[in-house]
Amino acid sequence: MRRIQFFEFEDQHWLPASIRNGITDFLQFSVEYGDLYKGFANRLSKALDRSGDTQIIDLCSGAGGPMKSLLKHIPDVNSGRIKVHLTDYYPNLPALSELARTVPICFTYSKDAISALDVPSSMAGFRTLFSSFHHFNERDATRILQDAVAKKRGIAIAELTQRHALLLVYMFFTPFLVLFASPFQKPFRWSRLFWTYVLPVIPLVVAFDGFVSCLRTYTPEELMKMVHGIAGYEDYEWQAGVEWIGVLPIGVTYLIGLPRKAT
Ligand SMILES: C[S@@+](CC[C@H](N)C(=O)[O-])C[C@H]1O[C@@H](n2cnc3c(N)ncnc32)[C@H](O)[C@@H]1O
Repeated sequence: MRRIQFFEFEDQHWLPASIRNGITDFLQFSVEYGDLYKGFANRLSKALDRSGDTQIIDLCSGAGGPMKSLLKHIPDVNSGRIKVHLTDYYPNLPALSELARTVPICFTYSKDAISALDVPSSMAGFRTLFSSFHHFNERDATRILQDAVAKKRGIAIAELTQRHALLLVYMFFTPFLVLFASPFQKPFRWSRLFWTYVLPVIPLVVAFDGFVSCLRTYTPEELMKMVHGIAGYEDYEWQAGVEWIGVLPIGVTYLIGLPRKAT
């Protein structure tokens, strides 16, 4: 299946924050309850160990995505030895502040818009992007990798979507999951119930964006091709692949880059 760029509602600046936050709330909820990044977390844990970094700069954090589940799987994050700073161009502030309030030992967040394409040099640390690298076209995606390499930062990218027929079919069922999950998501918000049950915009946008996300997701081969276009890529150790989830032939596509001096 060929990759297509197309568009997601989530990327549109005119999308009301209450709808955008409802979408990232659902992503955070499903990732946490499904523990979908469990296998990848072990890889990330090893990469962090080898890098020696004690700070993660999470880009495109949304509502925090897999952060709470990482606490379970990465002991150094759970203990607070490794801190995580959450950032987004459209930060889901209620969700990020709730996360920082409940686990202050390791989570902080930026209230201001931080673009993954322009990470402030004051934000030093190992960069992570969960379920978000597909938002960027090849030129911008390469720019994100190039910037990490130029600044000698470790970087890990993990995507739950894939250009796979099973996942495309699954996306048709997501509106029902949103209808079921909405009241249980935290923090509680009347606006989320409104955009779910009165005007069901969130369920429909989750399905549409999810479908498009699958079509936009890079394969490990495409990620490695991108890597080979980066100046200084040889100074890094790269791993790319798919970490299978359960018995189905689908999983988390990942790319991890570590500066060689750290290995
Ligand atoms: C599909 S959500 C993933 C959120 C979260 N990482 C997760 O796993 O649930 C993609 C996120 O990327 C953010 N985003 C899109 N373009 C961005 C950019 N240029 N810089 C920073 N964040 C961006 C969106 O605001 C959104 O929160």
